[in-house]
Amino acid sequence: MDTKIFQLNEIDAAADAIKRGELVAFPTETVYGLGADATNEDAVKKVYLAKGRPSDNPLIVHVNSVAMVEKYAAEIPENARKLMKAFWPGSLTIILKIKKHALSKTVTGGLKTVAFRFPDCQPTLDLIAKAGVPMVGPSANTSGKPSPTTAQHVYHDLHGKIAGILDNGPTRVGVESTVLDMSTDQPVILRPGAVTKKDIEAVIGSIDINHHKVGKNEIPKAPGMKYKHYAPDAQVYIVDQGTDWGKVIQWIGKQPFDVGIMAEGKILQKSTLPMNAVQFSLGEGIKDASARLFDGLRQFDDQPNVKAIVTEAFPAVGLGGAYMNRLNKSAGGVHFSDDMVK
Ligand code: TXA
Ligand code: MG
Repeated sequence: MDTKIFQLNEIDAAADAIKRGELVAFPTETVYGLGADATNEDAVKKVYLAKGRPSDNPLIVHVNSVAMVEKYAAEIPENARKLMKAFWPGSLTIILKIKKHALSKTVTGGLKTVAFRFPDCQPTLDLIAKAGVPMVGPSANTSGKPSPTTAQHVYHDLHGKIAGILDNGPTRVGVESTVLDMSTDQPVILRPGAVTKKDIEAVIGSIDINHHKVGKNEIPKAPGMKYKHYAPDAQVYIVDQGTDWGKVIQWIGKQPFDVGIMAEGKILQKSTLPMNAVQFSLGEGIKDASARLFDGLRQFDDQPNVKAIVTEAFPAVGLGGAYMNRLNKSAGGVHFSDDMVK
């Protein structure tokens, strides 16, 4: 199958493909999603196949109105409505109880809940409006790899497997939406994103955050959390704040392979890097770093000689919470330490 790159003036054609039950990747403000008609079971099945995604991992349903949520949710609690008002369109995904038989088991992974997201990206809101149906949309990467932040990333992973990609250039936020479970009495953040615990608490009061590490045979709250994620083939090392970059660079110089170095421009500029260092600038500050993190990891993943990647940590506050959550997963919790340099 040829994968067509749809330009922004071709949203009609992209919507027709969705209506025919085909897969079209779409932009959002966070990452690109892999779109299919959420009401078409065969189309949704193709999403799992294309991504290589385990079938017990439910999909987010993308909508362009609260009315669309009302069609599929059993009820919208008052606090959920307040959050929709405060943060939609935007990077907050809200899990609600599903109306019986409203969406197929393929969408929900067999759960009695469904996740709704109203992305802050006009071309995709137009796409949903023109298709006239809600769209499922997991991140449009091969399962396990970092999420795509450009149409080229999507093409790299999925060309030949999907009908098209609606190209809106690089995404703005770069890390996936906050996932908030509102299907229980006490709301819980299952995945941190750009909308923070503090932001949410300012609207509805105290909520929880799920720090629980999911065991192998356990049924997790967000099924996606049990799978290896965001991981390039090379080992990623987190370079904690306060680490002497001189030591890091010394270590790089001693490795028999190429090492990717992902740090802010100001760190790269003042360092003299060894021949085997391959640099990727995270820009300046946490906003830039979040927008660029996945691009850097993916670029190094395409360079087989790069067998390790050292990446700058940021304080885990605000957007930094989401950045550090993804970086931790891609590194499997491994940090650079001074002892690595003998
Ligand atoms: O920013 C985003 O959220 C992007 C863009 C494309 O919208 N989408 C995205 O989807 O990241 P995905 O499928 O890669 O991640 C969704 C996460 C998974 O960990 C999944 O298990 C969880 O949300 N999830 C979805 N529905 C759920 C439900 N009903 N209950 C619990 N967790 C759910
Ligand atoms: Mg994903």
